Amino acid sequence: MTPTPAPTHRPVMVAEILEALDARPGAVLLDGTVGTGGHALAWLEATAPDGRVIGLDRDPEALARAEERLAPFAGRVHLLHGDWREAPGLLREHGESAPDAILLDLGLGTHQVDDPERGFSFRHEAPLDMRFDRGAPGPTAAEILRRAPAPELARIFSEYGEERAARRLARRIVEAREHGAIETTGDLARLVRETLGPRRAGRIDPATRVFQALRIAVNRELSGMDRALEALVELLPPGGKIAVLAYHSLEDRVVKRTFRALAEPCRCRRGDPCTCGARERLELRQRRALRPADEEIAANPRARSARLRWGVRR
Ligand SMILES: C[S@@+](CC[C@H](N)C(=O)[O-])C[C@H]1O[C@@H](n2cnc3c(N)ncnc32)[C@H](O)[C@@H]1O
Repeated sequence: MTPTPAPTHRPVMVAEILEALDARPGAVLLDGTVGTGGHALAWLEATAPDGRVIGLDRDPEALARAEERLAPFAGRVHLLHGDWREAPGLLREHGESAPDAILLDLGLGTHQVDDPERGFSFRHEAPLDMRFDRGAPGPTAAEILRRAPAPELARIFSEYGEERAARRLARRIVEAREHGAIETTGDLARLVRETLGPRRAGRIDPATRVFQALRIAVNRELSGMDRALEALVELLPPGGKIAVLAYHSLEDRVVKRTFRALAEPCRCRRGDPCTCGARERLELRQRRALRPADEEIAANPRARSARLRWGVRR
């Protein structure tokens, strides 16, 4: 039987991003999270005939789909397997010079959440894998649940899932694993509901936060994000643009703080020689993050938690 192809991801806030990043003929975009190429496709169309995309992704399965989808633009696309946090080195290694614009569309794509084999969602019964790159070494979610001591599990649920009952849940997992491994999405979702109670009307399912926390831990998603964002901004030429879409408050907080710090001017008294070392490297054109329009959220419920922040390199 041929496997059902994973559904296509619907790119979020495309018009706002093309405008913020000043998509125009000839412009080069570094898409650090190219996924299955939705934003990249929009960029290639908006920058015809000679705009380019350098697309990175940690997930080789997503890259294979992006390659297929972007095949009509083959001469204008350079796809690379890698982590956006290592983008400066990857670009050097592959002979690419500085892009005019950078986009990060953080987190998970539909191609991953809705792929029943990857274990990202409790809507499908699947082994608890959750790695963006299934070829990479490193623990899967099931391995973390099998081996991590209770305090480490509690830290993961509390820090990455903002789960108030993190310690209770961690203890319950350690008890449960003595009677058998927690191997599948269904095993974990049942255990979470037994421990934290079922979903209450109008609230998110408690398993949502726990799955998010594990996924962040498996992929070390927040590690070094602030320094890597700074390095991306440094990569841009003056006037270059950067836009970041975040879908949960932990990521958005890092983006907000890093962008604000980069936008800080020198704090020394005017006329005095600078001793603080601060230099305005990014100009923020908006005070608050932009949100998708109601019509977009109605058409694509995954857009509802999106926050877009962007700035211009000084
Ligand atoms: C929301 S999807 C991007 C969707 C894409 N903008 C589109 O329109 O198709 C996020 C993608 O980022 C990738 N990803 C997550 N963290 C990454 C990282 N640190 N470096 C590179 N790719 C990453 C995931 O594998 C996923 O494919």
